[in-house]
Amino acid sequence: MTPLLKTRISVDYPNKAGVLRDVELEIGEGEILGLVGESGSGKSTIALALLRLLDHKGGSIKGEVLFDGQDLLKLKSREMRRIRGREIALVLQSPLASLNPALRIGTQLAEAWRAHNPGAAKKWKERALEVFDLVSLPAEEGFLDRHARQLSVGQAQRVLIAMAILHKPRLLIADEPTSALDAITQSEILELFRNLSRQLNMAMLFISHDLLSVASLCSRIAILRNGRVIESGFTEQMFRDPRTDDTRALLQAVMRNPFVDVAQPVTRGADS
Ligand SMILES: Nc1ncnc2c1ncn2[C@@H]1O[C@H](COP(=O)(O)OP(=O)(O)O)[C@@H](O)[C@H]1O
Ligand SMILES: [Mg+2]
Repeated sequence: MTPLLKTRISVDYPNKAGVLRDVELEIGEGEILGLVGESGSGKSTIALALLRLLDHKGGSIKGEVLFDGQDLLKLKSREMRRIRGREIALVLQSPLASLNPALRIGTQLAEAWRAHNPGAAKKWKERALEVFDLVSLPAEEGFLDRHARQLSVGQAQRVLIAMAILHKPRLLIADEPTSALDAITQSEILELFRNLSRQLNMAMLFISHDLLSVASLCSRIAILRNGRVIESGFTEQMFRDPRTDDTRALLQAVMRNPFVDVAQPVTRGADS
């Protein structure tokens, strides 16, 4: 079966070459792949490269990004715009910074809806309330009237996840989506991703520097270091038998926490 996403990319920035070097990733339909790596290893660059959003940072991509067998790097900009946000959606780290403080939430959802449904613009509210229900936000018109400042960080992240799933994407790229959240809210959002992926048969690339979150959510993990994938495989296998010293060091750091059972998918507790 053709994987949903199969990619091999290299990326250079004008003043920094080799930021990604032959990074190969594969994600099956409905599968959640975890991408782990320390700060600066190139994780966000991968997220942006897959969506061809590197232009404004001056980044150039080589290689291929096969989505459903089609190379996204060969598409015209207009064709790419139809995929971005509709077939492949993106959720970022700072939910409050991603929302426009001047606009009501409903207005932002309406805009996001119209971008891909110009002919059915009036349907936005119906769909907005549907996705609010899916992300466990109040499915009420009153909530649509709120501004970002009237939300908790966790609620803001749920609004952004709601926006991301508005068009039923087949792939959701989440770049450190829980880093700005406290531990309890983090585990709630991880649970939400797990449920959404199952309910919507939505594949995910879940990016994090936190191996524990990744291990609890993802069936497979790729580990990035200095722009290269140094190890990838099934989560359990990797925990049992890490191939590289780097992975071993990462795992040892995690295992210093005696409450973590590494043979099983782990759930982040409120005390971690
Ligand atoms: N616009 C840019 N120009 C030059 N270098 C950049 C740019 N953006 C990011 N980088 C560099 O690319 C590397 C990878 O960055 P990034 O993808 O943001 O890593 P991560 O998300 O893993 O922290 C870093 O060394 C960073 O400094
Ligand atoms: Mg990053």
